[in-house]
Amino acid sequence: MLRIPKSMLRKGMYIEAVECPTTEFSLRRFLLQSDEVLRSIRNSSASHLLVNCARSTVKIDSSEGSEPDRPDQPGPSVKMADPVAVRQEVSRATKALREEFRLIISGRVDLSRLGPTAMEIGASLEASPDIFLEVTRLKSKDEGTYVHSLAVSALMTHLGRLLDLDAKTIEALGIGGLIHDVGKIHVPNAVLRKQGPLTPGEMKAIRSHPESGYRFLKGHGERSQIVLDICRHHHEMLDGSGYPAGLAGDQLSLPIRICTVCDVFDALTSPRPYKHAWTKSDALAWMYEQGHLFDRTLVIRLSSIFE
Ligand SMILES: [Fe+2]
Repeated sequence: MLRIPKSMLRKGMYIEAVECPTTEFSLRRFLLQSDEVLRSIRNSSASHLLVNCARSTVKIDSSEGSEPDRPDQPGPSVKMADPVAVRQEVSRATKALREEFRLIISGRVDLSRLGPTAMEIGASLEASPDIFLEVTRLKSKDEGTYVHSLAVSALMTHLGRLLDLDAKTIEALGIGGLIHDVGKIHVPNAVLRKQGPLTPGEMKAIRSHPESGYRFLKGHGERSQIVLDICRHHHEMLDGSGYPAGLAGDQLSLPIRICTVCDVFDALTSPRPYKHAWTKSDALAWMYEQGHLFDRTLVIRLSSIFE
């Protein structure tokens, strides 16, 4: 395995991971065969990629990159607190959230019911952040979306408290975290779970989820601007390279920035088919390096949760 800068990328390389916060690439491993995918990666916010030399169809010189320095083992394991209680709470909240999404899909929505779930799950993370994250990593694949949403929601409310935001905003952060990806109910599972490169049409489908989620929530009476903004803009980046609107800098409100940081942190520290999860400290260090994409102040605050 070799870590190479994206400028060295060429067709015939087998990509194990693109170090990039966008879901089009970050979850996928594939043999790079088309100019179009090559161009997309070059135009993405990624700076480096992990390449599997053995599975590549072109010869790659080891001087083209460096050994990946991330350890293959998950980070330091749980400390203290009561893992059984946390596991029970996560399991209960996962069931509650799955039921809410079932209602959402069937058109019967009562978004106000999400507030208490968000607050309870936030309290659970607050009591023991390390255990909470460990537990959310153990869930089965089909629970992945719900568990990711729970983790993002809990991280967001905790960050909101650390930032001394008011109770109403914190609750909106929690709800926003739970439903930020609700637009994915309109994206076929085959596309969401596909491991190879996406066709332009599939990429378009994935990139439509923030906007379709926003329209869905608005159409069902969601009035909190914070929740709506989180849903619509959680894939925007500070330098304007994100989507759907390409907002940049001050155009991104604090709640949106909070969601982006928590969303990417949870994605990076979750297991992927090709490798163990990044450790928390590696994920935070990498995000801090990407100051053009993420709000560094928030990355530092997030890291304080796990000290
Ligand atoms: Fe998303």
